[in-house]
Amino acid sequence: MLIDMSEEDFELESLGGVGPVTKQKLVSAGIYNILDLASRGPSEIADIMNINRDKATELCNKARDKLIELGRLEKEFISASELYKKRQAIDRIHMGSNNLDDLLAGGIETQAITEFYGEYGSGKTQICHTLCVIVQMPKEQGGLSAGAIYLDTENTFRPERIVEIAEAYDLDHEEVLSKIIVAKAYNSAHQEFIINEVGRIIEKEDIRLLIVDSAVAHYRAEFLGRGTLAERQQRLNRFMHHLLRIAEIYNVAVVATNQVQSAPDVFFGDPSRPTGGHVIAHTSTYRIYLRKAGKNRIARMVDSPSHPEREVVFVLNEKGVDDPPDSTPKRGR
Ligand code: GTP
Ligand code: MG
Repeated sequence: MLIDMSEEDFELESLGGVGPVTKQKLVSAGIYNILDLASRGPSEIADIMNINRDKATELCNKARDKLIELGRLEKEFISASELYKKRQAIDRIHMGSNNLDDLLAGGIETQAITEFYGEYGSGKTQICHTLCVIVQMPKEQGGLSAGAIYLDTENTFRPERIVEIAEAYDLDHEEVLSKIIVAKAYNSAHQEFIINEVGRIIEKEDIRLLIVDSAVAHYRAEFLGRGTLAERQQRLNRFMHHLLRIAEIYNVAVVATNQVQSAPDVFFGDPSRPTGGHVIAHTSTYRIYLRKAGKNRIARMVDSPSHPEREVVFVLNEKGVDDPPDSTPKRGR
């Protein structure tokens, strides 16, 4: 997956202008190498280092340039054909349902954030569990032969559910469990702290999937009332951009879940609106709206740059996510 490079390539000192004092400040904020530096935004670096935004931007840009030089990130200006080639190298993780895979043109993409939003019980957490199992399967079976990190903010990760899904796929559940790293976040600051640490685990453990279930719950609970809305959106914005940079830099698929809230100003159609509002909407690469329809679940692709807006049906069963029993036979599985 990742180009093999020695750790020295990513040392902070290899950037011009980073001396021992700057390095010490960065390290004490959990930024150990260029990968960490590039995955934080200039506004965060300005806060950490207590420097102005221009200086922070300069430092972040240096880190980005170095990663471009090392072939880890795309150049700012590349030809469309080069971009097309690069996009063809994006990997996909199957969802366990052909219908959902079709909706996503082949599954969840690496280098992108896929957001699932919907009401309680619509299947967001079940999708996350299923993906943690499928990502471990070989490519021919829809996986990437790699592990997952599950950032659990609502205490809804269940290893028993992983065991059940793994067994439904005839996998050794001990092995499957051992390749899922669970981090429980107790509040939004802790959630941000965990994401700051995630890069090193991704590198060390060969992770290709990062789940954040849910991305917004803590922010929603902690920032109540209109007066705090601006700060909440700013923190959420920073968090989501950090996720997107992690997806790009480490070539992982990021899946974030989001609850819906009732929007009283909507009189026609579905009155549900994702909680994170426009912040999440603008950062997620793909957004999928889930809703219950009796025993079935319906998924709709919303706001994708490359997929038509349409709906598909799936179910939740012992395999986690699956196609409804009456749908067309499965391909290759
Ligand atoms: P919130 O986190 O509360 O917003 O909901 P969610 O969208 O994450 O819902 P979740 O994915 O937890 O879905 C819960 C639903 O999944 C339940 O109502 C069940 O219908 C279904 N479900 C959960 N576990 C099982 C299971 O072991 N077998 C089957 N058949 N269905 C299950
Ligand atoms: Mg859930």
